[in-house]
Amino acid sequence: MCGIFGIVTGREENLGGILVEACRRLSYRGYDSVGCAAISAGGEVDLRKDVGKVEDVSRKLNFGEMSGCRGIAQLRWATFGAPSIVNAQPHFDSDKEMVGAHNGNVVNNVALRDLFKKEGLTVRSTNDGESCVHAVELFLRKGFSTEEAVRKANDLLEGDYAFVIGRRDEKTLYAVKKGSGLVVGLGENSNYLSSDLPSLLFLTKRIIRVEDGEMVIMGAETVTIKRIDDGSEVKREPEEITQEMGAAQKGGYPHFMLKEICEQPVVARDLLHLLNASPHAKMFLSKLQNARNIYFIACGTSYHAALFGATAFARYAGRTVIPVLAPQFIPQYLPTVASGDVGVFVSQSGETRDVLKAMMMAKEKGIAALSIVNVLGSTMMKESEVYIPIACGYEISVPATKTFMNQALAFLYLALKLGGKDTSVLDPLPGLISETIKMSREKVADVIPHLKDQEEYYCLGYGSTYSMALEGALKIKEVTYSHCEGMLSTEFKHGPLSSVRKNYPVVFVVSPDDIPVSLSGINEVACRGGYTIVISEKDESLRANAGKTFFLPKSGEPLASLLSVIPLQLMAYRLSVERGFDPDFPRNLSKTLTVD
Ligand code: AGP
Repeated sequence: MCGIFGIVTGREENLGGILVEACRRLSYRGYDSVGCAAISAGGEVDLRKDVGKVEDVSRKLNFGEMSGCRGIAQLRWATFGAPSIVNAQPHFDSDKEMVGAHNGNVVNNVALRDLFKKEGLTVRSTNDGESCVHAVELFLRKGFSTEEAVRKANDLLEGDYAFVIGRRDEKTLYAVKKGSGLVVGLGENSNYLSSDLPSLLFLTKRIIRVEDGEMVIMGAETVTIKRIDDGSEVKREPEEITQEMGAAQKGGYPHFMLKEICEQPVVARDLLHLLNASPHAKMFLSKLQNARNIYFIACGTSYHAALFGATAFARYAGRTVIPVLAPQFIPQYLPTVASGDVGVFVSQSGETRDVLKAMMMAKEKGIAALSIVNVLGSTMMKESEVYIPIACGYEISVPATKTFMNQALAFLYLALKLGGKDTSVLDPLPGLISETIKMSREKVADVIPHLKDQEEYYCLGYGSTYSMALEGALKIKEVTYSHCEGMLSTEFKHGPLSSVRKNYPVVFVVSPDDIPVSLSGINEVACRGGYTIVISEKDESLRANAGKTFFLPKSGEPLASLLSVIPLQLMAYRLSVERGFDPDFPRNLSKTLTVD
């Protein structure tokens, strides 16, 4: 996820140190490129940017020496346009009279670029952030004041974003918030703005949170907040922040795991924007269309997303796919792999050794290697013919949550597309995820007293919820240090049923399409005294037979199965905290497994 930072001071001074420190503090969000612009009192703009780590780019381009009385910094996480110097931010307008940067996604940037070119503007990159600068420029050229041009620019820009711009001949920075984070920091003879709180706390503890649909006009002495739609002024008292950097990064949540679970509506919306607008998906699909065999190859949580994807491909695209754990791919399938086959390698980190090893060996046999990755610039991304970025930003907590959601969503989108189906059925997903999180947090609190002292659990699913059950079981194992077995619900009677005794906890994850096949399994456990929890859409037969029910908002397939993982994520999180463990950093585990 990108991040922006802005500073206005009362006099010309060295800004490099502050800009670099702000970048450093924004870097936990994830990025591939860094840029800084400083505007001097005389209106000279010094713009420096490159691909790479903050420390390296800052050393190479000597950010430390940059001075002025206004500054803008940006960390870019590539979504539109590859990581490159020209796509790095900030961006100039046509005449280098204005400089600006954004955070978020301007989803109609391709169409806007055509419009800007027709209007005679100079477009230099394929990055959507540049659209924000040109949108303002377009209205300045029509004779509007800067404030009016910034407001009008928002009528052109579609998507969720925040942006900041500064003009050479003014003393002010202008920023807007529409869906992405924006916070103002108030200092002495200087003011600041940023995508988030942690990057401001080394400068000031007095902040104002900007809300969606608002703009900021920031000078060294004054900060004015206005509504974008009608220009009316917003009066908001500053807050005094007492928390430290680590707590601020968690955005008020006690753990990253909970924060990342709660970010799922936002990242899902970002991914849908991205998939609808970017060329990656089209290229990906054309490879899949012509494939002989298709393999989905991954480990851990990413494998569960692959398994979900394989079911979705059969169901919505009528296409058989072989989902396989990366190390098992080598003995089981590699001997028969040949050119014409396609491997989709799935990984949050893009660095998991087990997956990379399978990828390299498969490439030698002529497979077309595609990938679905979160970390851009990772080895897996670079080794792929085509990749789909899942646009989640950094996932800090070791248990993967938001990246699973977006991996599964990416597969669902591809399956629908490949099957020639309308992907707008996915549009309600972000709202449904929010609703599910809200409902589940209350329900989880209800079952925790019963579950917290158990040492073993089962988590069962069928069809498209089989992968969700496996994922839920992995989450519970990972953060509670207890055993939880994920299994196909129909297999339970073939053996594990013998362990059921009074209060034995068995969770059933049931798709609305699979209620009849699940009912007998639920009863087999319930009538032996087991404690059954059912996660499903509202259904009276399930309510009548289950011990506890988690009813999800009504959505039907293909969305219902995706939603069903959320109560499991929250259950695992809550159980971990109840036991006094740190769910973000479970013992013996690391986020990225680069070893055998
Ligand atoms: C998930 O909660 C785990 N941390 C783990 O299973 C992880 O999914 C696995 O190691 C694969 O990682 P990757 O997605 O980065 O390749």
